[in-house]
Amino acid sequence: MNDSLALSPIVAGLWRLRDWGLDRPGLVRWIEQALDLGITSFDHADIYGDYGVEADFGAALAAAPGLRQRLQIVTKCGIKLVSAQRPGHALKSYDSSRAHVLASVDASLRALHTDRIDLLLLHRPDLLMDPEELADTFRHLLAAGKVLHFGVSNHTPGQLAMLRKRHPVASHQFEFSPLQMRALADGTLEQCLDLGVRPMAWSPLGGGRLITGQDAQAQRLRGVLQAIGQRHGASLATVAYAWLLRHPARPLPVTGTGRVDGLREAVAALSLRIGAEDWYAVWQASIGQELP
Ligand SMILES: NC(=O)c1ccc[n+]([C@@H]2O[C@H](COP(=O)([O-])OP(=O)(O)OC[C@H]3O[C@@H](n4cnc5c(N)ncnc54)[C@H](OP(=O)(O)O)[C@@H]3O)[C@@H](O)[C@H]2O)c1
Repeated sequence: MNDSLALSPIVAGLWRLRDWGLDRPGLVRWIEQALDLGITSFDHADIYGDYGVEADFGAALAAAPGLRQRLQIVTKCGIKLVSAQRPGHALKSYDSSRAHVLASVDASLRALHTDRIDLLLLHRPDLLMDPEELADTFRHLLAAGKVLHFGVSNHTPGQLAMLRKRHPVASHQFEFSPLQMRALADGTLEQCLDLGVRPMAWSPLGGGRLITGQDAQAQRLRGVLQAIGQRHGASLATVAYAWLLRHPARPLPVTGTGRVDGLREAVAALSLRIGAEDWYAVWQASIGQELP
């Protein structure tokens, strides 16, 4: 495992920040409450909130200068959205070129009011990625002290391996939840385990569908998760996080909740180890059939 990358076992995701209706003091308080719960890592992307969430978070850091040294910032680059904030973008596309990555990191550092990003992820696989150029860009950012660790998001195992031949890859962030188990089947989690790449699981509750979805898969899963939760005195969400944490690659769930109680439910999962049969019962409910 990449030991020098120290993230908290639960990571708070900021994608939905602008839905939460927090003003600046409210956001400072929210960050402090997350820190009090042991959540010290915060997941961003340059594009969140139409290129605005990093700046909202950065304004909170600037308003409470002691905060920055108590937390780690994860952010992403590589997706170009058509936006009034980026008049040069004519088409949604992916870009891992040196020019784009360097410009993106500088913009994130400015927005976040910080001099360093703890972990920079390439948000989506750029089909035109030149791994030599990207590795060289990473080395440049590391030498400049602007980025401390690098990783990828939503990449195939082959894409990750190609980059890792040229530069250390500390983390891989991908969708993983009882509703979305592709990473168990396509080699993604095995690769993380094998290479010591730290997995991060986005949409751990399926964007809320696990809690409120009316489809058959969500209903089947709720039945099983609730039964496990009743035995352990834990909420459905806590059991879902515990299911993720049970994998030996030790994925870090990236929460999406704006509620501190929602963060508390995630942290509660750190003291709940579910049994292997319960883990497979969730797997079975997700697939809708028995193991072969
Ligand atoms: N790398 C990528 O491509 C990628 C893609 C998507 C997301 N992400 C990252 O992953 C993070 C999480 O994604 P997500 O927001 O889809 O995560 P999620 O945890 O699966 O979904 C969060 C949503 O579920 C709702 N929810 C309902 N009941 C809940 C409960 N008991 N506990 C917690 N949430 C509950 C939340 O509403 P409340 O606020 O009311 O709780 C929120 O709207 C994002 O913020 C982002 O940082 C990364």
